[in-house]
Amino acid sequence: MRLSVLILLLILPLAVFSQSKPHHSIIPLPNQVEFHEGSFVVNTNTKILVASRSLINSPLVAEVERILYTATWLKPEIIYSATEKDTVISIGIFKAKKIPDPGAYKLNVSQNRIDIMGIDEAGVFYGIQTLRQLLPPQIEYHDPSLVPNNQKWAIPSVKISDAPRFQYRGMHLDVGRHFFPVEFIKKYIDLLAMHKMNRFHWHLTEDQGWRIEIKKYPKLTEVGAWRDSTLIRRYGSNTYDNIRYGGFYTQEQIKEVVAYAQSKYITVIPEIELPGHSSAALAAYPEFGCFDKEYKVQSTWGVFEDIYCPKEETFDFLEDVLDEVIALFPSKYIHIGGDEAPKKQWQESEIAQEVIKRENLKNEHELQSYFITRIEKYLNSKGRQIIGWDEILEGGLAPQATVMSWRGEKGGIEAAQMGHDVVMTPWNSNYFDHYQATPSSEPLAIGGFTTLKDVYHYEPIPDELSEKEVRHVLGAQGNVWTEYMHTGNKVEYMAFPRAVALSEVLWSSNEQKDWLNFWARLQLHFQRLDILEVNYAPHYKGALPEFGK
Ligand code: ACM
Repeated sequence: MRLSVLILLLILPLAVFSQSKPHHSIIPLPNQVEFHEGSFVVNTNTKILVASRSLINSPLVAEVERILYTATWLKPEIIYSATEKDTVISIGIFKAKKIPDPGAYKLNVSQNRIDIMGIDEAGVFYGIQTLRQLLPPQIEYHDPSLVPNNQKWAIPSVKISDAPRFQYRGMHLDVGRHFFPVEFIKKYIDLLAMHKMNRFHWHLTEDQGWRIEIKKYPKLTEVGAWRDSTLIRRYGSNTYDNIRYGGFYTQEQIKEVVAYAQSKYITVIPEIELPGHSSAALAAYPEFGCFDKEYKVQSTWGVFEDIYCPKEETFDFLEDVLDEVIALFPSKYIHIGGDEAPKKQWQESEIAQEVIKRENLKNEHELQSYFITRIEKYLNSKGRQIIGWDEILEGGLAPQATVMSWRGEKGGIEAAQMGHDVVMTPWNSNYFDHYQATPSSEPLAIGGFTTLKDVYHYEPIPDELSEKEVRHVLGAQGNVWTEYMHTGNKVEYMAFPRAVALSEVLWSSNEQKDWLNFWARLQLHFQRLDILEVNYAPHYKGALPEFGK
């Protein structure tokens, strides 16, 4: 055996050992990280080198400026070619021989030059996020006066090569049960972007409130965005606050949020629930229900019998609504809900029963399938695709539909086996409205028990799927239902740090999964979240908690 090989064999266990200790706090963990001697120090002479012309009008230069601002207090000079003397942060697009994953990037840091190269703009953006996490946490202040005078802005020399494991890396937010202002939505989007997530599923309509302005149907927000009262305390307490509650986003605000998300390479997927969870819409326009009765914007939680009636006027209404929705949201997917739609009113309605007869349907489940398929056809004719909760499998799946599997993974498995795309959001690991610590010591939540460790160990690819079927699993998402979240602060408490763990599930390679290493990196990451004023749940700060080691 050659001496060099012998030495290598002797030091390998040491190297492996030291690798398991964090040298950095980057989350999600990059695929390959190789540290070298020395560091790049950001100062007022640092320039941004834009290596490819196409990037000049992208949001990327502004993102580098935003991140560096606290280090330099000024906008760095932007240059298009560099001399030897310049210290630069260069951004560019690299050409790959084989087709690599969207979002892939390389980041090389040496003493006087940083190169961030993405396979696409999103890749450059992710490289910038990694760079951000290589800087000291104080970079997050965005108010230079808060930073200690002697702060140094050193970035260790490193070579990173990275790409996401899944193409769909999402977080959801229910703004129906409680309403959150645009400023909060932007903060939420910022946090997703920092963790390299790329989908924001915005649940905009609910029994308890319709939250998106639709110009053709003003009563949706004049009436449907407001409830008379809200349940307080636990479900079943039957105690109400008797305070009128509501709010909605104007179309101008929606445009602002969509553009903001785009600048962070996040697609906003709007959800317009149908045929169930439609009490608020029916309170505004009872003519689209099956019965001549009083509908109300609900003041308690749960599943309600009110449902859109499958008559032509209803489809005209929904198509009009969707026309305005697709004009606002460039997303390929429009989420149409489809969950928890009790069939009682359809069973009792002559109109619904006539449609069943006319269309030769077996039952109300097939009627739901007919309903969803009509909406799908309409959206397909506009170049969009539907995504819906796994109940859309019942009575027959619409031909092009993507399924969001929430009642466990069964629906997702079934859909993938049928050749449909799937996003996994199983309730036992991906519902961030569940308790995350011993319930008796926690603020009120809906129930369940999902620790940070449970989320970290979630595997989106079910064993049951063949190699071909696995390709239909686009990724996964964390869901944040807000019955028990009245404020943005509470949303942050429930969503973080569980969303941080999910980001690593969705981005990092499976072989690298290492719970204790993640937990150690999280300790440094918490410092960033503190500066960003994120009200994360602190159970995993310091020591590992007994309930979820
Ligand atoms: C759901 O949680 N009802 C999708």
